[in-house]
Amino acid sequence: MKILVVEDDRDTREGLQMLLEDFHLDVRAAATLAEARAALAAFDPDVCLTDLQLPDGDGLDFVREARAEDPRREIVVLTGHGSLDSAVEAMKAGAFDYLVKPLRPVQLEAVLGRLRRGAPDGGGDAALWKTLDETGRFGAIVGVSPAMREMCAVIARVARSDAPVMITGESGSGKEAAAQTIHDLSRRRGRPLVAINCGAVSANLIESELFGHERGAFTGAEKRRSGYFELAQGGTLFLDEVTEMPPDLQVKFLRVLETRSFRRVGGNEEIASDVRVISSSNRDLAEAVEKKTLREDLYYRLNVLPLHVVPLRERREDVPVLARFFLARIAESEGGGRRSFSPAALESLAAHPWPGNVRELRNAVHRAYVLSDGDTVDDAVVAAVLAGHSSGVFASVRPPAPGSSPRVEAVEPAPGGAPTVADDPLVVPVRVGDSLEDVERRLLERTLAAVGGNKRKAAEMLRVSLKTVYNKIKQYELER
Ligand SMILES: Nc1ncnc2c1ncn2[C@@H]1O[C@H](COP(=O)(O)OP(=O)(O)OP(=O)(O)O)[C@@H](O)[C@H]1O
Ligand SMILES: [Mg+2]
Repeated sequence: MKILVVEDDRDTREGLQMLLEDFHLDVRAAATLAEARAALAAFDPDVCLTDLQLPDGDGLDFVREARAEDPRREIVVLTGHGSLDSAVEAMKAGAFDYLVKPLRPVQLEAVLGRLRRGAPDGGGDAALWKTLDETGRFGAIVGVSPAMREMCAVIARVARSDAPVMITGESGSGKEAAAQTIHDLSRRRGRPLVAINCGAVSANLIESELFGHERGAFTGAEKRRSGYFELAQGGTLFLDEVTEMPPDLQVKFLRVLETRSFRRVGGNEEIASDVRVISSSNRDLAEAVEKKTLREDLYYRLNVLPLHVVPLRERREDVPVLARFFLARIAESEGGGRRSFSPAALESLAAHPWPGNVRELRNAVHRAYVLSDGDTVDDAVVAAVLAGHSSGVFASVRPPAPGSSPRVEAVEPAPGGAPTVADDPLVVPVRVGDSLEDVERRLLERTLAAVGGNKRKAAEMLRVSLKTVYNKIKQYELER
């Protein structure tokens, strides 16, 4: 690997050169922008390690030039502690990663390791752009609007880098879908994407959940256990709802991000952490920082590459494409035949404001599918779903008996006013023929309702872990 060091400070430059030579790399050094440009042509480096403030110009220009000349060339920028902003700019210009001065050899080694693990396959994005143009899909993302195309372009770019990404956007807009796509396009795709719901990590287990623990670290720690950081090693850590992270955890997190290493609870060994962090939030981050629910220094660290997901109502062109996509997927999973929307139905869908964004659309399509028979989902069904008339009866929709049309039973008091079983909020009616999933969802829904939404209590009653309750709530979209 040929590597060019561009740094005006002599001590840093020479120190870097020596370190890199220790790693058996072919190293050249440049002290100015002019020298760096000359070396690009003469030396043709695979990697450039460059300072951003150079005596005769802006290192950012160099980043652009070096990449424009050969897109497979990787750039790592060197930045001072106080100038992370310029590192962010550099990442946007296509830099692979950044290193904060004063440099620590372990960090340099980690970056080199990532670089070695495989240069990105140059043509990877091109294939994806082709599918986006032809099918309206880009990884896990479906969309044809200019806003989505722009987002996909940003995703393709940030997927190349290893810097932290902060995804903002309303609930249900597709933040997790974006995170998944970034991971899938990144060099980390062969390793796990581990998601942490920051609001759901139990306060006293936080440290051990994140960092793992050694055997005997505390009462009950009978075995050594890996935490999220270790599980995600080499992959991506997705911090969902990052503003909900408890304050003491924020401090610990910051430390790991800064040192890129951690210790298991009860352990002495410093474990190098190689994870890419993607965070998400549906809150106003500036406000969270102001109110001190999110530490400013942590925010700064996590928000290196911002990505905003536009609400669905501001990209209505995507509604028909998404609706058709979900309809096909739902038909497949329900084992029914293919169906299509009538033109009027699609118009109604496109006109809806979608406060719950893509998730709400997906659920609406699901209801409309279940409520319609025949090959076409027409406007009447869509209108009923959008007006909310279907939600009450959705739980009691039975799968059609073979040969019959689907039957919908509204939950209504029996004639004579005697309450039916379904009226009792503490009873979950179950019939042979109900799907296990449906029963589980209804049981969870009613249990939560019975305990006033207290998830911990619900977990106790259902005799499952709190985490399972959170996962199931998510799976069944019980909260918007
Ligand atoms: N552009 C899209 N293409 C296809 N599916 C999408 C898209 N956006 C969202 N979805 C789907 O919609 C659902 C909700 O999206 P997702 O979970 O990513 O939202 P979110 O922004 O993370 O929401 P929350 O803030 O509530 O966590 C998921 O099932 C997701 O796969
Ligand atoms: Mg999410």
